[in-house]
Amino acid sequence: MPVDASQALLCWYAVDKRRLPWRAEAGARPDPYRVWLSEIMLQQTTVAAVKPYFEAFTRRWPTVEALAAAEDGALMAAWAGLGYYARARNLLACARAVAAEHEGRFPSEEAELRRLPGIGPYTAAAIAAIAFGRRAVAVDSNVERVVARLHAVKEKLPAARPKLRALADAMTPDEGAGDFAQAMMDLGATICTPRNPDCARCPVRAWCAAHAEGDPGRYPVKAPKAARPHRQGNAYWLEHDGKVLLVRRPAKGLLGGMLALPEAAPADAAWEEAGAVDHVFTHFALNMRLLCATGEVAPPPQGEWWPIERIGEAGLPTLFAKLAARGLAWREKDKAAADVRQVILV
Ligand code: ADE
Repeated sequence: MPVDASQALLCWYAVDKRRLPWRAEAGARPDPYRVWLSEIMLQQTTVAAVKPYFEAFTRRWPTVEALAAAEDGALMAAWAGLGYYARARNLLACARAVAAEHEGRFPSEEAELRRLPGIGPYTAAAIAAIAFGRRAVAVDSNVERVVARLHAVKEKLPAARPKLRALADAMTPDEGAGDFAQAMMDLGATICTPRNPDCARCPVRAWCAAHAEGDPGRYPVKAPKAARPHRQGNAYWLEHDGKVLLVRRPAKGLLGGMLALPEAAPADAAWEEAGAVDHVFTHFALNMRLLCATGEVAPPPQGEWWPIERIGEAGLPTLFAKLAARGLAWREKDKAAADVRQVILV
């Protein structure tokens, strides 16, 4: 019989862990490159969303050196749809730093890992523990929730964070910290879920103060969040000769470095409104109108003319992919109208 929650959790993980493409088979050494890549992709993103991206990235760039040699535009396009694009810019900067300054090998110490671009305290601890077997405490929101329930922590998030971290630290074993971290993540993702935790299947129920109280779903207690502000914007679909005008966004800021539709009118034209799309970012909700026009414009606008037939390969972030779908619908409608005109004229 396990003597404490940590042991019980490790026993459960040995049998019930999720088979995920970045996890090494039993007995095999994990590849730090794959661990790092998965941890960056998994920040604020679900396992289900990450899996196909992880498979595509590791097929195309199987090593950190291969990734370091990728072109910026190719990498940003491959990341399109995964969101939080600063991660993609940092990913490339980090791969290049590991290739150039560490001979293609990730450092194994948390402190050294944290010096690399895009690696914060959580990711450094996760890589040190999972890839290198170091005793490190990786606390993400899953771990916070599990610990808050195990100890029925009454303080509210985010103020409770240092306490939750200390409790997670106290539970972390000296050996197997990587498995322990991943076991906490798996428990949080599959059993100790935010709503309706499945306590009947929980391997640490016997140690859980929130379960004993009878309402584990009330933890972690959270301070009320400010409502997300709403913003309004325009995007422009300018097409000419089977191509649409795209612009590369500045490296810094929202969707930085990604290809997009222009957000200011790129020319004087007879702009036609073609609907709007809603998109939710972390800090605001956006409603963006699409304005469409066709024809040659002078002077030639700044940007890149992209073949409309191949718009799916442009690597547009989701907001602009939704707008591009509206642009395509607009031109289909236009084409249908032109066909009708032609039929009438013949
Ligand atoms: N979330 C973040 N890192 C993870 C991992 N290694 N396994 C499962 N879920 C995770």
